[in-house]
Amino acid sequence: MQSSEIRQRFLDFFQGQGHLLVPSSSLIPAGDPTLLLTTAGMVQFKPYFTGEMEPPRRRLTSVQKCFRVTDVESVGDSSHLTLFEMLGNFSIGDYFKHEAIDFAWEFITGNLKLPKERLWTTVFLDDDEALELWARKGVPRERIRRLGEKDNFWGPAGDEGPCGPCSEIHYDNGGPCRLGKPDDQCGPDCSCGRFLEIWNLVFMQFYQDRARKRTPLPRPNIDTGMGLERITRVMQGAASVYDTDIFQPIIARVCELAHKRYGQDGGTDIAIRVVAEHARSAAFLIADGVVPGNAGRGYVLRRLIRRAILFGNKLGLAYDAANADSFLAAVAEVVIQHLGGVYPELAQGRTFIVRVLQQEEAQFARTIETGLPLLEEKLIPLHKEVGRLAMGKQAESPFRIPSTGGSIRIPSSETVSVAGILDALTAPLLEIQTSAEAVEFSKRISGLEAFMLYDTYGFPVEVTAEVAREHGLSVDMEGFNKEMEAQRERARAASGFGGDFERLRVYQELGAGHTAFLGYDTTHATSEVVAIIVNGERANAAGQGQEAEVVLRETPFYAEGGGQAGDGGRLESPRGLFQVEDTQSPVAGLIVHRGKVASGVIAAGDQVAATTPRATTRPPTCCTRRCAPSWAATCASRGRW
Ligand code: SER
Repeated sequence: MQSSEIRQRFLDFFQGQGHLLVPSSSLIPAGDPTLLLTTAGMVQFKPYFTGEMEPPRRRLTSVQKCFRVTDVESVGDSSHLTLFEMLGNFSIGDYFKHEAIDFAWEFITGNLKLPKERLWTTVFLDDDEALELWARKGVPRERIRRLGEKDNFWGPAGDEGPCGPCSEIHYDNGGPCRLGKPDDQCGPDCSCGRFLEIWNLVFMQFYQDRARKRTPLPRPNIDTGMGLERITRVMQGAASVYDTDIFQPIIARVCELAHKRYGQDGGTDIAIRVVAEHARSAAFLIADGVVPGNAGRGYVLRRLIRRAILFGNKLGLAYDAANADSFLAAVAEVVIQHLGGVYPELAQGRTFIVRVLQQEEAQFARTIETGLPLLEEKLIPLHKEVGRLAMGKQAESPFRIPSTGGSIRIPSSETVSVAGILDALTAPLLEIQTSAEAVEFSKRISGLEAFMLYDTYGFPVEVTAEVAREHGLSVDMEGFNKEMEAQRERARAASGFGGDFERLRVYQELGAGHTAFLGYDTTHATSEVVAIIVNGERANAAGQGQEAEVVLRETPFYAEGGGQAGDGGRLESPRGLFQVEDTQSPVAGLIVHRGKVASGVIAAGDQVAATTPRATTRPPTCCTRRCAPSWAATCASRGRW
C-alpha cells in the first residue's frame, strides 16, 4: 500500500467518525513562543485543549508536518527522522480513552489489516482502565506493558502546555531480542530495535506550567499521533523508513548524483539516508519561511544543511562552483516533485527553496574548503599519531615527541599555507608531559584547536565535532566555550562596547574573498545580492524602510579605507531600491553596502544595478603587492590584490 493511500485512508476513516479535517499548520508555530518548531499534531490545537478558544468541532483530524530537533543525530538509523508527517485524531472534551482505543484498534486491524499477533501495547503505570480496554480488544495481557513517565507520559510540547498519560501501540518485527535478552525481558521499551512504536494515544488531562506544576484541564481530551513514515514502513514490510515509497525516489536521486548504489555498504547507506532526509526537511523548513541563520530556527536549518553537505561530501558530492550547481537543491527538487501536491507551499516555494539551498551550499563549501583538509588530513592524524607513539607505554612515563625541527612531524608536507595556523593548533602538544596525557590528547580535540578552526576559517564547532566523532575523537566543548568567551571579552574590550562580536561573526561567516571590487574606474555594474544582514543577523530580504547591509558578488563601490570615505549610491532591482549610505569592508575581502530600502524589497539572489556617483581615486602605486606603504593595509584587506 502506497503512503498516499495510507494518508488518505486515515483521514477518510476519521472523517467517517465525525472528525473535521484540519489542514497541517506551518512548521513555525503561530503565536507560540514556547516552541521553536511544530513538534506534534496537537500544537495548533493547544488553545482548544486549554479552553482558551472554541474549536470548530469537538472531533478533529489532521496530517501535520512535524520537526524534532532532538532526533537529528539519530537520522540514518531505521526509524528516526527530523521531519515527519503525523497522522492524528483529536477529541476536544468529546470522547475519551474508550473510543480512542476503539478507533485506533479498528483502523490498524480492521482497515489496514495489520496482523493482531504482531501488536503490543503499553499503558501508564497505574492506568488499569487502559489496560483493561486493550485486553478487551484481545491483546494478550503479556503483550500489554506498564511503563513509567519516560515512555508513557506525554508532553507538554514546549515549556508549558497540555499533557497527560499515554498509551502506545508497537509493532513487533519478530524475535529474538537483538541484544540477547530473554523473551520475557524484551518488549516495547527494549532498545534492540525489534519493536517499533507506531501510534501514541495521549489521554490529555493536565496543564503543566513552567514550574512543572500540573493542574487538571477543564475537560479530558484525546490527542493521538501516528508517524506516516513508520506505519508505511510496517505496511510495506520495509527494513527502514528509507526503504518505503516515501524515501525511495529521493534516495534514488542521491544515488544517481553520487554514482553510488544503495544497499551495498552500511556507511554509504547512512550517508545517503542523511542527505535524503535533511534535503527533505530543509525543503519543508524553507517553504515555511525559515532561512538559514545563526540562532533559533535559522540555526536548526543551517545545521541540517551543513550536516547534509558533510555527509554528501563523503559520497563524493560537492558544490560545483563553476556551474553554481548545488547537489542539495537537486535532491530537494525531487522532494518538491513528490510532495508538492500534498503540500502546495513546496511547489509554490520551489524557486526560493532552490535558491536558498544553493546559496547556503556555496557559502559552506567556501568555509570547509580549507578547514576540512586541515582537520581531517592534518589535525586528526596528528592526534592519532601521538596516541600511537604513547601506546603501550607506562602511563606516568615521560612522553617525548620525536622531534623534527622541534615539533612532531605532520603526516603531510603541504603545510606551507597553514604553517602558522598549525603552530597555534599544535600548541597543546607542548603541554604533554606524560604518556597518559598523550593518550588523552589522542582522544580529544582541544578547545583551543576547535576555536582556532572556527576563528580562522569560520569552521563551525559542531562540524568539527561531527568530523571528529567519525574518527573516534571528541571535542572539548567546555574548552571551546571558554575560548569563545575570552574572544568576546577581547572584542568587547577592543570595541569599547558589547554586541559587536555577533556582528563580526556574521561577517566572518560570510567569509573572505566574497566580494570582488570592480576597480577604480567603474561607477556602474550589474551584480547579484549574495547576502543581506539586518541588525547584525543574516536575513533573506529587507523591506521598505528597513536598514540593512547588502553584500554583492561584485561591486563598483569603494569601501572606506586608505584615507578615503566609503561610497554611497543606489542598488536597483525590478522589485526595489536600496539607498547606499556608506560602504565598509569589515573583514578582509568582504564589502558591505550600508543603507536603507527606499522602496519595495531587496532580497538575496536579486540581480541589481549598482551605481555610485563617483569614481574612486586610484591608489598612488600599482597593486601587485608592491604598494606604497600607506596603501599596504588597504590592499591587504582587499584580499584580492
Ligand atoms: N502528541 C503526541 C505525540 O506527539 C500524540 O500526538 O506523540
